[in-house]
Amino acid sequence: MTTDVPPGLAGVAVVETRIAEPDSAGSNLRYRGVPVDALAGSVPFEQVWGLLVADRLSETISLSDMVPATFRSGDIRVDMQAGVAGLGSRLRSTIDQDRDSTLRDLKLASAALIGFAAQSARGSGSPVPQREIAYGRTVAEQFLIAWRGEADEAQAAAIEDYWITAAEHGLNASTFTARVVASTGADVGAVLSAAVGSLSGPLHGGAPSRALSLIEDAHNGADPSNLVQAALDRGERLMGFGHPVYRAEDPRARVLRESARRLRMPKYEAALAVETAAIEALRERKPDRILATNVDYWAAVVLDFVDIPAELFTPLFACARTAGWSAHVLEQVALRKIFRPSAKYVGEADRSIDLVDAK
Ligand code: ACO
Repeated sequence: MTTDVPPGLAGVAVVETRIAEPDSAGSNLRYRGVPVDALAGSVPFEQVWGLLVADRLSETISLSDMVPATFRSGDIRVDMQAGVAGLGSRLRSTIDQDRDSTLRDLKLASAALIGFAAQSARGSGSPVPQREIAYGRTVAEQFLIAWRGEADEAQAAAIEDYWITAAEHGLNASTFTARVVASTGADVGAVLSAAVGSLSGPLHGGAPSRALSLIEDAHNGADPSNLVQAALDRGERLMGFGHPVYRAEDPRARVLRESARRLRMPKYEAALAVETAAIEALRERKPDRILATNVDYWAAVVLDFVDIPAELFTPLFACARTAGWSAHVLEQVALRKIFRPSAKYVGEADRSIDLVDAK
């Protein structure tokens, strides 16, 4: 059976948005018109949250009054989902309140979600006292203190740059999920919990760590060009290159490359050498395609610098996406229209129940 519906709704515009513009041809990503390069290193993540959600840098979030985690499963993603869904009694259905009240709920739920990630990542260690978390000058510093008990300034800046690049990217699966759930009038805890769930699958959220192995080999003295050529000779794809949307360099890779340079990350030189060798080799071997660096490549370097363990990669991405998800919630709620697309039926015609097991 065939249908005329593209699988995954690829390329089908299903909403209008004023939040973010991934500019595939121009190699740019703009949040409410502001290029992401102009934000990283200039303003903290919490101001980017405000820009995306309310078009105001001053509408910030903070962990200085963190919601204590009461649910602990040992799985950070599960703890985030359960924790934010469990805020229910502190939140109201979005159809029962005005925009400012929903914005207030989104601030509470976003900060709580980031706090749950930190508290869960801390594992069985005793919780960090709230007054120490409040010493953090930014949400990234507060997150590090809540997780590890202390915040290194450069590492906090690296998390901040990563969060800013990962804050929003149009209608991907988790953002679509957030909009669908928001369209029912559900409280924003239910919305963010559902969005985190849809981010947990391996096809969404990226796997920056895979890009690190060549960089580490080069950092340990191997020749970057030999490493790249050998990987391609083995028929492997070079992790961190090529992108389904961007046909030029992924602008987020540019931001994180600059972050690695600015913060003097130890693997910066090796990463730059591997990147140069990779682009040259891909140009030679695939002259008809533009295969440039994607966000995962430099995200790998940045997250390695902060010693982020693999189980925290996706939760950290979810922390960043609280901004994009929240922005889409406000945009969706303002439409006051529930999602109700139709399914084109392509199954069996009218038939007798006797035929069901007869095949
Ligand atoms: N290394 C080597 N060859 C590549 C690479 C790569 N990184 N990317 C594409 N190619 C080649 C393919 O082998 C293919 O060659 P062929 O035509 O001879 O078979 C050709 O380029 C086209 O490949 P497609 O998969 O059709 O390209 P598309 O643009 O659809 O794919 C994708 C994009 C999936 C990201 C791809 O470039 C890839 O696998 N990259 C490596 C994995 C990676 O970095 N993933 C993270 C993406 S970033 C993100 O999703 C947020």
